[in-house]
Amino acid sequence: MAIIEVEDVARTFTVRRKVGRLKRERSEVRAVDGLSFEVAAGEMVGYIGPNGAGKSTTIKMLTGILVPSEGRLRVAGADPSRERVRLARRIGVVFGQRTTLWWDLPLRDSYELARRIYRIEDARYRRNLDRCIDLLELGPLLDVPVRQLSLGQRMRGDIAAALLHDPEVLYLDEPTIGLDVVSKNRVREFLAEINAESGTTVLLTTHDLTDIERLCSRVMVIDHGRVVYDGGLEGLHNVGGSERTLVVDLAAPEPDPISIPGARVVRMEGPRQWLAFPATDSAAPLVAAIAARYPLVDLSVKEPAIEDVIARMYGGGTTEGERSLEGSVAGA
Ligand SMILES: Nc1ncnc2c1ncn2[C@@H]1O[C@H](COP(=O)(O)OP(=O)(O)O)[C@@H](O)[C@H]1O
Ligand SMILES: [Mg+2]
Repeated sequence: MAIIEVEDVARTFTVRRKVGRLKRERSEVRAVDGLSFEVAAGEMVGYIGPNGAGKSTTIKMLTGILVPSEGRLRVAGADPSRERVRLARRIGVVFGQRTTLWWDLPLRDSYELARRIYRIEDARYRRNLDRCIDLLELGPLLDVPVRQLSLGQRMRGDIAAALLHDPEVLYLDEPTIGLDVVSKNRVREFLAEINAESGTTVLLTTHDLTDIERLCSRVMVIDHGRVVYDGGLEGLHNVGGSERTLVVDLAAPEPDPISIPGARVVRMEGPRQWLAFPATDSAAPLVAAIAARYPLVDLSVKEPAIEDVIARMYGGGTTEGERSLEGSVAGA
């Protein structure tokens, strides 16, 4: 049964640009443009796409913050913008770039406020809060003012706040942005657990394909305000023939590129080498082959950038995103 229904939805914004010194020109941006999809209750769906594709606009319409210009939206049978208050009890939302917590208050106080706003019954509040404290390791943070928390701590705090009232649907807009690997993993494990235990429907926007790989059996790719792919992550990689990158640190610089079947060196820098291999292949045999022949010290696997995967879907060689991916790998 579909808990989220989106049918031919469009949303336009009127923007005024300065032209010359005094003149302003009005123009229309179609942020979402003929969007249709359904999400079944209990599904965990990745919602990805390049910057400006319309992802946040979609989530704002699904929460009722924004009214669609055209089309029809239903969440748990309700129209989000018309029945916003009623729906608020059934949905939770986390915007990675903005906190819903009270900046100057200890985390605990924000939760107490949520308890009153949503009129969460005592036993349920305790149970949900305890679960969040336990799984997100919030115990030592409860009495710390939010402004003193690190980004990863704050994000965990935000996610807990969105779940205290047991929403059926959880929207997450870039919840792992800017987080370190440890925090990312903690957030991922928590979301997997919530989805499995409570059957919470999750719509997850992210720039990190590892989030999708770990959590979502289904991924929707949105570009220019419409769905351009809907299916498994593996299928998406297959469509574009996208590649993952194995970043290998050797004990000492090798004069030559590492030579193993199934991967090719795309970059070398001192003792570090970057090997590209098909995203649908397992990294394990490559790692074993390298470790058998080279003095391997450390390694990591990088998912392709979403921009690359999408560019490849449309058919194309090296893209802008690919170059910037290399830049970010170099800095890693
Ligand atoms: N309030 C707004 N006013 C004008 N333009 C907007 C507004 N919100 C979003 N847009 C534009 O709509 C497009 C989609 O934005 P957004 O949904 O934030 O994309 P994404 O989250 O996928 O990066 C972008 O071109 C953005 O500049
Ligand atoms: Mg966004």
